[in-house]
Amino acid sequence: MIRRPGPRLAEGILTRKERSPVDVRLALHQWETYAATLRSHGWETVEVERAEECPDSVFIEDTVVVFRNVALITRPGARARRAETVGVEQAVARLGASVNWVWEPGTLDGGDVLKIGDTLYVGRGGRTNAAGVQQLRAAFEPLGARVVAVPVAQVLHLKSALTALPDGTVIGYAPLVDQPSLFPRFLPVPEETGSQVVLLGGNKLLMAASAPKTAELLAELGHEPVIVDISEFEKLEGGVTCLSVRLRELYA
Ligand code: GLY
Repeated sequence: MIRRPGPRLAEGILTRKERSPVDVRLALHQWETYAATLRSHGWETVEVERAEECPDSVFIEDTVVVFRNVALITRPGARARRAETVGVEQAVARLGASVNWVWEPGTLDGGDVLKIGDTLYVGRGGRTNAAGVQQLRAAFEPLGARVVAVPVAQVLHLKSALTALPDGTVIGYAPLVDQPSLFPRFLPVPEETGSQVVLLGGNKLLMAASAPKTAELLAELGHEPVIVDISEFEKLEGGVTCLSVRLRELYA
């Protein structure tokens, strides 16, 4: 599931970076290439209706967490992003998901949830609060998930500085990971943006062009990096995972 950037993209929220001008036309081109790359690796893309008034809506990952057949519609920690969930809720319902919601006072961003098998690591400290963690547990533990809360103090989202390889090894940019020892296997990578990979299937990993050393490291370990340039989204603190939500479990 993906969402085309809207005309106000360049106004996206910045938390940890200085603002630098975003080329919206280039961003659109990069987004089209990202979507085409997913398709060329066997993924069907479902496009959620564009949210014209929401600058950050292209970062669709933050609006929903899917486990089994349940789509938990989040309540983003940034108030300005809350309107983004409406179109996503309609889309996942149309796709046959059972829909659940995070309620006030809970806040949860999908970028804070890293799924490895049946374990959901959830980053607490940035956009996601304790009530959001509790609601994530209540939604998914009855379905067999194990929810593990981990602190996030140095980055916007848990997945800003770590994700996981197909074998479950967590990769992360160590200077920005609060407690790497919380993960059973942790592989440090040399670039912050290299810590984000989207699993395309098999050994293929979708990665940002801004992390060539990490791509080389992962290729040497037998993975196949598939590189996309997402420079305009990186200026807005987004990475490759933020731009899509994988829905495989809905169809399993
Ligand atoms: N610009 C991405 C976010 O703040 O959520």
